[in-house]
Amino acid sequence: MVMSDWQPLCDLTAIPHVGGHYVVHHGRPLAVFRHNGEVIVMDDTCPHAGGSLSAGRIDGESRCVLCPWHGWPFELATGQCPDNPTYRVQHYEVKVEDHRVYVR
Ligand code: FES
Repeated sequence: MVMSDWQPLCDLTAIPHVGGHYVVHHGRPLAVFRHNGEVIVMDDTCPHAGGSLSAGRIDGESRCVLCPWHGWPFELATGQCPDNPTYRVQHYEVKVEDHRVYVR
C-alpha cells in the first residue's frame, strides 16, 4: 500500500491501553497500538503464519509486539523482526490531531 497523503484511520479512543486495535484500511488489515504515549500502526498479518498482531501483546522491555500464535517479536518502531532480519511487517507514519489517528 502506498499512501502519500495523510488518511484518517480511527479515533484515538478506539485504541485500548493494553493490547491492539484491529482496523481494515483500504482492504488492508492493520494493527494499532498505544505505547508510552505513542500511537503505532503496522500491518496486522504476521509473516510467519498469518497470526493477527493486533491480538498480540506488547513487550515493553524489547519494545516489540509479540505475535499471539508463536510469539515472534516485531519492533514497534520499525516493524522489523529482531530475531530474523528477513521478516518484517509494514510500518506506517502516524499523526494524531483532535483525537483522530491518521496514517500515511
Ligand atoms: S504466526 Fe506469528 S509467530 Fe507464527
